[in-house]
Amino acid sequence: MSISFETIEQTLSLWMRQACAAVFPGADLAALPLNVVATTDASFGDYQCNAAMSVAKLLKMKPRDVAQAIVDRAGCPVGVERIEIAGPGFLNFHLSADWLARRLEAVQTDARLGVPAAGQGKTVILDYSSPNVAKPMHIGHIRSTVIGNALDRLHRFLGWRVLADNHLGDWGTQFGLLMLGFRTFADPTAYEASPIEELERVYVASYNRSKEDENWKNAARAELVKLQQGDAENRELWRSFIEHSLREFERIYQRLNVKFDLVRGESFYNDKLPGVIVMLQENGLAEESDGALIIKLEAEKLTPCIVRKSDGGYNYATTDIATVLNRAEEFKPDAVIYVTDERQQLHFKQFFTVCRKLGVTTRLEHIWFGLMRLPEGTFSTREGNVIKLDRLLDEAESRALALVQQSSPDMPPAQQREVARCVGLGAVKYADLSQNPQSLVTFTWDKALALDGNSAPYLQYAYARIASVQDKYRERFPVGDPLAQPIQLADPLERALAVKLLRFPDIVLRAAANFRPNQLADYLFDLAQTYSTFYQNVPFLKAEAGVRESRVRLCDITAKTLRCGLNLLGIETPDRI
Ligand code: ARG
Repeated sequence: MSISFETIEQTLSLWMRQACAAVFPGADLAALPLNVVATTDASFGDYQCNAAMSVAKLLKMKPRDVAQAIVDRAGCPVGVERIEIAGPGFLNFHLSADWLARRLEAVQTDARLGVPAAGQGKTVILDYSSPNVAKPMHIGHIRSTVIGNALDRLHRFLGWRVLADNHLGDWGTQFGLLMLGFRTFADPTAYEASPIEELERVYVASYNRSKEDENWKNAARAELVKLQQGDAENRELWRSFIEHSLREFERIYQRLNVKFDLVRGESFYNDKLPGVIVMLQENGLAEESDGALIIKLEAEKLTPCIVRKSDGGYNYATTDIATVLNRAEEFKPDAVIYVTDERQQLHFKQFFTVCRKLGVTTRLEHIWFGLMRLPEGTFSTREGNVIKLDRLLDEAESRALALVQQSSPDMPPAQQREVARCVGLGAVKYADLSQNPQSLVTFTWDKALALDGNSAPYLQYAYARIASVQDKYRERFPVGDPLAQPIQLADPLERALAVKLLRFPDIVLRAAANFRPNQLADYLFDLAQTYSTFYQNVPFLKAEAGVRESRVRLCDITAKTLRCGLNLLGIETPDRI
């Protein structure tokens, strides 16, 4: 069953706005932030609001008097027991335990755990992963894949129509050098066994030769022109590079459980590039400069954007402009989101600015992240190829297998391996997703696999332990039916857990709106800790009838929330570890 909920923050914020309007009629409050948000510290109540500060500023009153007037005259919203005024005029909301309990009961039977389908009717295009053909996926592509996929899952869960588009770099000047190099240096057996590694080797050899051999350079250019003009042999070779690369990328995607709706490389937009140039010229945006065509962005304090090189070739930006125009027309998206590493910030600033000048109104966002540092010898940027990622994941699985063999020695080996796969992959993904994407992080096995820290295995263990509590209940009380008993929140630890559980919908909304999966990760870790305090300090199966069932219900909702949250991060939750 699915119930349509407003989140707690939404309900309280709406109430606040109406309360302020009623208490201060005639004041123009429309632009003021009057939001009610979850507290970070329970001593400030469950939710808090600093509306009194901004209203006071507008009305030239004392914040405390504003707060007092709201409390005296607006009463309390449904579910709120009391509102306290703290410090200079903060409003602290305390929810009623009974209301929390009834709300949790409704959430427990809701397939969406109270998360509203806020994106219904809206379309987002997520441009992520997007590696370059015939080149290894580097660490930036891996991060883009993991972060992009979490954003993909979050938006889908919120009801958005998501189009995940793998915008492959499958066109560009490297193909001239590659083709010439391939014909001269390629080892067919090595190519068959590991195409990307061999293409990389061939490319480097060809590139080095071009630096000392002018004839070689010209020959490579001629190969590129032939490709661009549709020469059958070169097209065929190009297609085979793409095919082989995709096959290797696909192996990684399958392992990471990542699926795309569209795989349109840059080449897809090739024949649209001349039209883009015409459009830019007709809009008076482009001008000649040393034979190249550029768009000056001085007013925006950006360096010029080159849209056609002096040799007539087009640029990365030209393709991206063509891509946006095409996406806007074909899919009418509300937003297009690009996930890449930090080195592309200037490119996206320039290209978004040009789009605005062309009248594109679609929301465009560049979500960038810092490059993750990896321990020496595991996976460095220079060697960060697909093969190495495979090895990283292999190592994660084998380290996880050791953990599982220790914690569940009696589990059949096949199941141990399957659990180790979930735990190992989860550890690698979570190490990435639990960090602020813009901070520089170093990956270490100890942190990624820590059973007592903020890691996927910790959360997966927490989930499995909760599932086992439910099994124990069923064993001991085979005819018991927790759903037939109301949820009770008499103990402060129960109440604290309930408050945390009911925050999930707002967290999911915020993590998606801010494009920050780590906000969801932080929440899940916090929830698991709150649960663990609760579980360790109140009797469970030994509690009296009624209380016992209520606690089993809290357990169930916690398990469902952890599972749903981890799945939104692309992490699986085995029932046993
Ligand atoms: N292929 C690019 C790279 O590897 C990333 C593409 C990102 N998407 C885009 N539409 N520009 O750097």
